[in-house]
Amino acid sequence: MNNPDWLIKKIIKMGGTISFYDYMNFALNDPSNGYYGSGKAELGAQGDFVTSPSLSDDFAFFVGKQIEEWLIQLKSNHLCDQKLFVIDFGAGDGSFISGLIKYLFESSNNSLEGVSFVIIEPNKGMIEKQKIKLQEFLGLGIDILWKGLEEIEGNNINGIFIANEVLDALPVERLTFSKGKLCRQAVSIDKKSSRLFFDELPITSELEKSIKLAEIKLGITIPPGDALEGWTTEWHIDNSKWLKGIYEKINNGILLIIDYAKEARNYYGLRNSNGTIISYKNQKTSNNILESPGDSDLTSHICIETLINDAEILGFKNLGTTKQGEALLALGLAERLYEIQKDFKTDLSKALARREALLRLVDPICLGNFKWFVFHKLKEKKSNITSTCLS
Ligand SMILES: C[S@@+](CC[C@H](N)C(=O)[O-])C[C@H]1O[C@@H](n2cnc3c(N)ncnc32)[C@H](O)[C@@H]1O
Repeated sequence: MNNPDWLIKKIIKMGGTISFYDYMNFALNDPSNGYYGSGKAELGAQGDFVTSPSLSDDFAFFVGKQIEEWLIQLKSNHLCDQKLFVIDFGAGDGSFISGLIKYLFESSNNSLEGVSFVIIEPNKGMIEKQKIKLQEFLGLGIDILWKGLEEIEGNNINGIFIANEVLDALPVERLTFSKGKLCRQAVSIDKKSSRLFFDELPITSELEKSIKLAEIKLGITIPPGDALEGWTTEWHIDNSKWLKGIYEKINNGILLIIDYAKEARNYYGLRNSNGTIISYKNQKTSNNILESPGDSDLTSHICIETLINDAEILGFKNLGTTKQGEALLALGLAERLYEIQKDFKTDLSKALARREALLRLVDPICLGNFKWFVFHKLKEKKSNITSTCLS
């Protein structure tokens, strides 16, 4: 169904036409009907789509190894003698934090000591799922808080910030080349059928400014020369605001962003004429992104150079970018695969399922192709941070 009542009412109230950005925001984040807002989102192999932590605890264990290495460096470099934070943006069903805490519990490095966990999750429906998943750790007195970034006191947070598959869920603007000019894609209601259809609005000055800046800095043109009528792309207008919010809060910290990403020349190239956005439901993808708003996920790739540019303009240092497959191999995935062989004799089906989940994490046509971006902000500019995931 492309015209649920709740959304039609909202659009009519707003004059019959809304920007694509507003459409995506309602479809995902409306507190009563949005996919994440209402908590309808089902992650994992039995849900609508898998994320790396929802497959098994292995992903959180590997990332945990990296986080622990960074926490130790932050402590031992005397970069911070106060409390350290691990801040997870958009925690989904809580699988990542759950796996991470298990890893730190089992580690011999006492890494849990003096660490507080914060989940930054705007959607109440998802917070409920996370609280259920993390109940056992809350019961053990592990310091896990749900807060907005702005609610954390002071601008001097020390620690690790992680965003796995979060930027791809932020609402995007869509830009369409129409009648010789770039327009802002919109969504309107057909008066006769009450069905949603794509429409156009004039480009805003905020969008124009943001596109111009990227064009100058990255040497790209949007739309590309020779673009055909209807060429469409996504513009991640919220990324720089999101990064700024984090940058201003950090004293000494490392930010790990993991997501689907494409290079600018492909993202904004002639051949990518309908952008990257797709919807997910029951493990199936669809290009029909106006179908079942609120009942399916909407996700769009991020642009590698635009993200790095947005971060560097603020002052973040990019320590490197790598593919998930390579990062996880550097963090010990091959050794873990080997260890599983021992379990083949005791519980074959469990061992095979575990091996399959591990292989999915590095599958080059799926999760293995995700990009890992490591940024840091350190008060003492000469301090050095090493990252096994980038080696
Ligand atoms: C695709 S899920 C990723 C879940 C999790 N990180 C994982 O890897 O399993 C996207 C998550 O981001 C959350 N989210 C949406 N907008 C957000 C925002 N502005 N800040 C933080 N989280 C957000 C959603 O509610 C959801 O929990």
